[in-house]
Amino acid sequence: GSTIGIVGAMDVEVEALLPKIQNQQVKKIGNHRFYTGELEGKTVVVTKSGVGKVNAAMTTTLLIQSFGVDQLIFTGIAGASDPKLDPLDVVVSTRLVQHDVDLTAFNMPRGLLPDYQERYFYADKTLQKYAFDAAVETLGKESVYRGIIASGDQFIASKVKVTGIYQEYNAMAVEMEGAALGQVAEAFKVPYVVIRTISDKADGSADIVYSDLKKATADNSANITLNMLKQM
Ligand code: ADE
Repeated sequence: GSTIGIVGAMDVEVEALLPKIQNQQVKKIGNHRFYTGELEGKTVVVTKSGVGKVNAAMTTTLLIQSFGVDQLIFTGIAGASDPKLDPLDVVVSTRLVQHDVDLTAFNMPRGLLPDYQERYFYADKTLQKYAFDAAVETLGKESVYRGIIASGDQFIASKVKVTGIYQEYNAMAVEMEGAALGQVAEAFKVPYVVIRTISDKADGSADIVYSDLKKATADNSANITLNMLKQM
């Protein structure tokens, strides 16, 4: 059967899911905990990756290699990099890029790693559709977008930085894990999608809006994930 891996970076991003897991068992590998069981009737493994690309890559690898997950959903919050998005809007990933990858010294485009054909990692079309439909059902279609998500090991809180990422990568949202999960998932040919609810504008007003909305926006993505599992 199919096993769906569900990843959030922070406690707040998985805490709406963990109590709902039926037949829950916890397995610790290294410094990470994996919660197996059923959510909405589907076999799942839920984990908190921790913040950043290394944590995301490590947990994604373990989900695939130690738990045999064959589909991956990332659920969480993000800053808006496209100025038309506001807090509480949702972005379903079409593709993802690591905005902090820089080998421009070797005349390579920003975001492109050696031995890769391009700088974007592509989310699965079927999972995108499930996620989009579930988000629209949860929120209404005015608040739901499909687009590029840029990841890096930086909390973006500057107008100059966020504008740069928007212009360079055409990204709708910035966060710190999605493209790392995408890179690993692609390496193992596991389909994936990233669902992010906007918590801030990534422009320096970030810390204020972010702390106010963190819980509500994290729960929003978790609820979309639950809704999505129901349809799958
Ligand atoms: N997650 C939520 N807001 C973010 C921001 N502004 N930058 C990076 N990750 C985020």
